[in-house]
Amino acid sequence: MTTKMAINAKDIFRNQHRLIRFLEQSIRLCSNQSLKAAQQQQQKSSSVDFEITASVDAQYTSAPEPIKHDKNLGHQFRASQLSVRLAAPEQLQPKPDNDGELGFGRLFTDHMLKIYYHKSLGGWQRPEITPLENLVMHPAAKVLHYAVELFEGMKAYRGVDGKIRIFRPDMNMNRMNLAAQRSGLPTFEGKEFVQCLSRLLSIDSEWVPHTDTASLYIRPTLIGIDPTLGVASSDSALLYTILSPVGSYFKTGSSGAVSLLADPSYVRAWPGGVGNRKMGSNYAPTINVQKEAAAKGLQQVLWLYGEDHQLTEVGTMNIFMFYVNEQGEKELVTPPLSGLILPGITRDSILRMTRQWGKFKVSEANITMPMVCELLNQGRLLELFGAGTACVVSPVNRISYLGQDLYIPTMEQEKPVHELIRETLTDIQYGRVDHPWSVVID
Ligand SMILES: Cc1ncc(COP(=O)(O)O)c(C=O)c1O
Repeated sequence: MTTKMAINAKDIFRNQHRLIRFLEQSIRLCSNQSLKAAQQQQQKSSSVDFEITASVDAQYTSAPEPIKHDKNLGHQFRASQLSVRLAAPEQLQPKPDNDGELGFGRLFTDHMLKIYYHKSLGGWQRPEITPLENLVMHPAAKVLHYAVELFEGMKAYRGVDGKIRIFRPDMNMNRMNLAAQRSGLPTFEGKEFVQCLSRLLSIDSEWVPHTDTASLYIRPTLIGIDPTLGVASSDSALLYTILSPVGSYFKTGSSGAVSLLADPSYVRAWPGGVGNRKMGSNYAPTINVQKEAAAKGLQQVLWLYGEDHQLTEVGTMNIFMFYVNEQGEKELVTPPLSGLILPGITRDSILRMTRQWGKFKVSEANITMPMVCELLNQGRLLELFGAGTACVVSPVNRISYLGQDLYIPTMEQEKPVHELIRETLTDIQYGRVDHPWSVVID
C-alpha cells in the first residue's frame, strides 16, 4: 500500500461514524434554524453606542497564573497520547430536531473523554475518547462518600462562519485546578486537557447546534475514586468530560426577567469555605432552597451573607448592579472575590470589557440589601442582573425580601447595559467579531 493510500484508509477509519451517518441518516442538524439568519446578522450594523475592539488591550487581558503541581504528583498526561474508540454506528444517538426540545443537560452526545490518575501507576494515564458509557467504580469510592468532586461548565458555540469556538478555556482549566488543589485531587496541565477536549468536540461536532440560540454544554468533571473510606487525598481519580446540547438554562417570567427569593436565613458560602471553588458539594445544599423559591412562584435564589445582608450570588450566577452613585455617575458594581463567590469567567469578562469601554464607572464592592432598598426608594437603581456561562446575563425584575416585594426596573431601561453586555459577549462567542477570547476548534 502506498503512503497516500495508507493515509486515506486511516482518515476513513477515523471518520467512519461521520461517513456512515452521512450515508444512512443524511446529516441531521441539532436545530432547524439555518445559519443564514445568523450570517445576515453578521453584517448587521451595531445598534449599540459602545465600540468593541477586535482585541483586548494588554491591561485588560490576563492569563491565569500557571498551576504549581505537587512534587509527588507523578507524570502528566499528554494530548499526543490520546486514543480514540469510536461509537459503533448502531450506538449513535439521534439528534434533536429543534432547540425547543433541548432544555438543559438532558441529552448527551455519542462520545466522552476519560483520563485516569493512579498514583500507584506513576501518575496520570493516557487520555482516551470512548463512546458515552456508564462509569464503574468501587462502592467505597471517595466521591460517593465525601463528595470528592469538582466540575466546570463551558460551552462550544457554532459561529456564524460554521466554525466551532470555545470561550476562554484557560480560565476554566485554572479554576478547575484550584478546586483540585483544595479537594486533595491531582492537578493537570490545562493546555493538554483543552487539546483532548478539542478532539472530542471535533468528533461530536455535529452535536454543536447550528444556531446562535443554543450551544453545546461541556462538563469537565474530576472525581476521587480511591476505594478507601479514609477522609484523605484520593490516590486514584478520574477526569472525564461529557457534552450536552443545551438551549436556555433558566426559566424566566414572560418579561424574560427572573424573580428572586432573598432569605437571609440561608447561606451558600462563608469565609474560609469553598464558595469560590466549583465543587459539587456547594450545589446539593442549594436544591431545597431553590424548591422553596419555586413554591413561592420565584425563579431563583439570591444568596445573602452576613448581618448586613450582602448580595453574593444569584442562583448559579454572579450578580451585577447598575446604578447612579452618590456622585451622580452611572456605575456597574459586582461583589469582590472575597472567597464567598465563584470567580465567574463571565464576571471577569464583563469587568474587563466594560472597563475597556470606559463609558461608566466599574467597581468591585459589596452590595447590601439595605443599599438596594435605599437605591430603589431614591430611583437610583437601574438594573440588576446575574451573569454566567449558562445564560450569559439574566435580568432580575423582582426580589422577595423579608416579606416585601421589591420591583427592580431592569427591564424598563431604554438601552439596558445588560443587553449591551449580552450582545457583545455573544458576538464574540458566535464569531460575529474576532476576539482572542474565542478559541476556534479545528
Ligand atoms: C455559583 C456560581 N456562580 C457563578 C457562576 C458563573 O460562572 P461562569 O461565568 O464561569 O460560568 C457559576 C456558573 O458556573 C456558578 O455555579
